[in-house]
Amino acid sequence: MNTLIYNVQVTTGDRFCAGTFNSVSIRLIGTDGVTEQMKINLNEGLSRDSVRDLKLAVHSRLGSLELVEFEAERFLGIVDDEWFCSRVVVTTPEADVLLFPCYCWVSSQETRVFREASAKLIFQETRSKSLEDREMQLKKCQEEFRWRVYAPGLPQIVSANNALVLPPEVRFSFTKETEFHLTIAAAFVPVKLNAMADNRSSWESLHDLDQIFVTKKTKAYEFVRQHWQEDEFFGYQFLNGLNPMMIEKCLELPNNFLVTEDMVKSYLPDGSSLRKEMENGNIFLCDYKDLNCVVGKENVIHDRLQYLAAPLCLLYKTSDKKLLPIAIQLKQEPGEENPIFLPSDNQDWLLAKIFVRNAEFNMHELNFHLLRTHLLAEVFFMATVRQLPSAHPLFKLLVLHFRYTLQINIMARDQLMSEEAFFSEHTGIGLIGSRMFLRKALATLTYSSLCLPENIKVRGLEEIPNFYYRDDGLKLWKIIHEYVEGVLGHYYTSDDYIQRDTELQLWIKDIYKKAFLERQSSEIPQSFTSLEELIKFATMIIFTVSVQHAAVNNGQFDFGAWMPNFPSSLKCPPPTCKGKAKEIDVLETLPDIGTTVHTMTALYLLSQKSSDHYSLGNYPEQLFVEQKPLELTDDFRRKLEVLSYDIKARNVGLPLPYTYLDPENIENSVAI
Ligand code: FE2
Repeated sequence: MNTLIYNVQVTTGDRFCAGTFNSVSIRLIGTDGVTEQMKINLNEGLSRDSVRDLKLAVHSRLGSLELVEFEAERFLGIVDDEWFCSRVVVTTPEADVLLFPCYCWVSSQETRVFREASAKLIFQETRSKSLEDREMQLKKCQEEFRWRVYAPGLPQIVSANNALVLPPEVRFSFTKETEFHLTIAAAFVPVKLNAMADNRSSWESLHDLDQIFVTKKTKAYEFVRQHWQEDEFFGYQFLNGLNPMMIEKCLELPNNFLVTEDMVKSYLPDGSSLRKEMENGNIFLCDYKDLNCVVGKENVIHDRLQYLAAPLCLLYKTSDKKLLPIAIQLKQEPGEENPIFLPSDNQDWLLAKIFVRNAEFNMHELNFHLLRTHLLAEVFFMATVRQLPSAHPLFKLLVLHFRYTLQINIMARDQLMSEEAFFSEHTGIGLIGSRMFLRKALATLTYSSLCLPENIKVRGLEEIPNFYYRDDGLKLWKIIHEYVEGVLGHYYTSDDYIQRDTELQLWIKDIYKKAFLERQSSEIPQSFTSLEELIKFATMIIFTVSVQHAAVNNGQFDFGAWMPNFPSSLKCPPPTCKGKAKEIDVLETLPDIGTTVHTMTALYLLSQKSSDHYSLGNYPEQLFVEQKPLELTDDFRRKLEVLSYDIKARNVGLPLPYTYLDPENIENSVAI
């Protein structure tokens, strides 16, 4: 009888402690037979980042090779030393080379089975064993990742409230975990912040404030410190600051914002008028009306009631391409005690701008950062692992865009959003107010607002000059869209495939239900009928968790560390008349010393880039095996490299370079 040889190459990953002293056995499973179990390691361990070559001999053909199976025995029968296997490559006697992506920890607790890498849709499976394997995998994931209601009216989350109970594959790597804790420690050390963290006093001068983060300042921080009071920089931040999502073109004033021609004529060119400038598309508005639900329900910090505003801010685009604020009203209801502040109002104007910046803090951190990137990313991940098996092409396309998201969200809920944590102790909106506002924000969230090209159009921002977030973001949307279109188009060759893909339909249903709470007005699809719809939705997911998160996350220290530019709470009520405010009122209104220190430390931590970082398009695991998606991934990376080069060249000429959407600085996933 002839002996047939399968050459098997088993790779141990490069993660910390990936090697093992457990005794590991492998078995190959084909459509027509299985091999005997073979020990990979006998009297020696498997070391980290190494390859083991084996020869498995059989006497009859295995048919089409579908699975590899691992079993492990405890080291010396006592210690279960887990092993991280990254991949297996099998060369068959017919010289076919097959890849089996694993990227999993293997222990003595259970037999692990991994499929060959070819992507398949459920109706393309020809064997009941493969269908069974899909089902088993989903059942396991549905047990490991269970849904939980976070709070009524908010997206659902994973049930685990401690990262340690998550499967190790989705937890932080050793490198990231260590760096994360070192960063927390380092943030406090050089400035003796610990001693200041409980200080309830107001700042006596802004000079003192500049002393506390001496060793951590960035160029952008310096720029912000020097320019934060200037109207031009105040306007600039609505386009290229931390939150480029609020501003929109104003063609008509809202009924509750009674700005008259007289009030603003001196800020407009001679002979022009507000009406004319609105008609010409030069007037813009930021309306924080969604914050009105928490005004009057503010937090108490250090025994002192805090204050919030729900402002309206009108801006004018000058002929030399500057965006300048020309009127601010701090409350939504017009009235005598709610004056419209103007640039000529000296200290009152500065105070009004500070209230807008505090509204920005809440709007940015809660709505545009936490809700629209972190919480949505968690639902996208949960739906993906619960509804799509690893053989599904959409799973392969998306899963590496959810790296570390669960753990960072669990940590954020624990350290930022729980009782006695940051939002509860150091923000004017407080924990109860945060939840109330988040509910409101989700209730008005629409699909089109998550899709940048539509969002820019709806807000009338196609033409506004010097809008780098839009310029870079639209290019990134296009590059991601082309990639997604290519990959999904390779597997879904007709709309009929989309309609027949029952796993895909359950996946989108889960997202509609768990993230958007089945609200039809969100316009989130409840099912897919065409490939085009799926391409758009998958583009939105990758864009949201990578590009959009980078835009609203990475500049937090740059724009927020100079506290007056991004105050987390305000100690005095919004001014109700003009002419009374003095310089001292500004210091008295800003957060106390302890609150400032806590906020700066949190922003510092949240802006750090880990060395265990993969920028957009760079994937640490190979999940696809077909030629077409591999070529498309290379092409995706090449386009991103060109864009990175162009953005760097553009930035050379800018007083404040816009670096957040340089692909090099965009992480694949929400990981911080
Ligand atoms: Fe973040």
